[in-house]
Amino acid sequence: MRLSIIGTGYVGLVTGACFAEVGHHVTCVDNDEAKVRVLREGGIPIYEPGLEQLVKSNTALGRLQFTTSTAQGVENAEVIFIAVPTPPLPDGAVDLSFIEKVAREIAAAMTRYQIVVDKSTVPVKTGDKVAETIKRYCKAKVDFDVVSNPEFLREGFAVEDLMKPDRIVIGVRSPRPVAAMREIYAPFDAPLVVTDINSAELIKHASNSFLALKISYINALSVICEATGANVIEVANGMGLDQRIGRRFLEASLGFGGSCFPKDLSAFVKISEQVGYDFALLKEVQRINALQMDRFVKKISDTLWVLKEKTIGVLGLAFKQNTDDVRMSPALELCQRLHKEGARLRVHDPKAMAKAQAVLPPGPQVEYVDDMDAVAEGCDALVVATEWECFRRLDLQRARRVMTHPILFDGRNLFDPAEMERLGFIYKSIGR
Ligand code: UGA
Repeated sequence: MRLSIIGTGYVGLVTGACFAEVGHHVTCVDNDEAKVRVLREGGIPIYEPGLEQLVKSNTALGRLQFTTSTAQGVENAEVIFIAVPTPPLPDGAVDLSFIEKVAREIAAAMTRYQIVVDKSTVPVKTGDKVAETIKRYCKAKVDFDVVSNPEFLREGFAVEDLMKPDRIVIGVRSPRPVAAMREIYAPFDAPLVVTDINSAELIKHASNSFLALKISYINALSVICEATGANVIEVANGMGLDQRIGRRFLEASLGFGGSCFPKDLSAFVKISEQVGYDFALLKEVQRINALQMDRFVKKISDTLWVLKEKTIGVLGLAFKQNTDDVRMSPALELCQRLHKEGARLRVHDPKAMAKAQAVLPPGPQVEYVDDMDAVAEGCDALVVATEWECFRRLDLQRARRVMTHPILFDGRNLFDPAEMERLGFIYKSIGR
């Protein structure tokens, strides 16, 4: 089918590339000229495993093209996807101005029946507003359908998640667009949930909030484990074998971050408030998450006592593994807090160093180190802040030798406490 994606951010670009990969003809639209130029020249503005190859091969095959013109995107496609940002407002609500603007631009360019699909994460009832807006601004007064089709991509695994989804959610107001949506997703082997738009929109916020709740639950348990001498990984393994619970998203950590969970939780709390429900459960999820960072910082300062003039090596800056994204990154927040206490930092991330420098500028107190094994040199302590697989292969013998004191704080439980003790480290992790 001929499809357009408005917005080539994270979601838009991965979606466009994967749709092209399964044979659709895709036009990706973005108003950022520099980004479109980079993409046309075969470059990729973000790091995401497998994406560059998909973009290159599908562009070469003529199935994927990039433009700055929404009108051209509308002209080229039977189905138009909106994948623009919905950033948070200071009060936790969602800024829908990009969605509204794109809806007007699409409306102005429509000359025939088309389907407009919202893929951006939006509050329930946004679909109604998009439909009203298109109706109002469509000069040609043609028929159209609005569909909600939330995405469930994890950064770092986005191509995999899109190609092999657990489910595809389609929210519609009438049966008319269902056949086209089925055709788009026919190459993907996954159950299709066809429902009303409000439910589809809610499925997205409800899913992300539930996953965040799962993480806060295991993080709360990690506190109990530390107080009782239990091991949170053993507890998670034992719980996770119950199929009603499941093992995934039960990794205790220094807290969740990223551009989705923190924002979506705040938005869902706000949406609930607006419809008259105090979603105190989700507020507690947020509180536990903030507390988890406080507890981790305290663990470091309790051990090192005064942080001023201490040298701390930090492994990881991205908000999670396999990405260069540092938005709302717990690792970066940790660095900022240690830095504020006067510690000197030696930091490393396999992919996120360039983006991190904009937030945590290099200087006499913050040194960016290219080689992960060199980070430990002269450090009073080492901290693991992001769950990159490669950190498991850290040369611990070397770290032990070159550190002033062999102390390792593991905010992601990557290492085995017994092994660390054997190697001569003072080792502190989460919930063990
Ligand atoms: C999340 C959801 O997992 C996706 O399904 C959703 O589509 C996406 O948000 C979105 O709304 O666009 P993402 O933010 O990319 O994806 O990353 P996750 O893998 O969910 O991790 C979020 C945070 O939780 C990270 O900081 C991660 O380190 C942390 N985490 C995750 C834990 O601390 N423990 C876990 O067990 C799992």
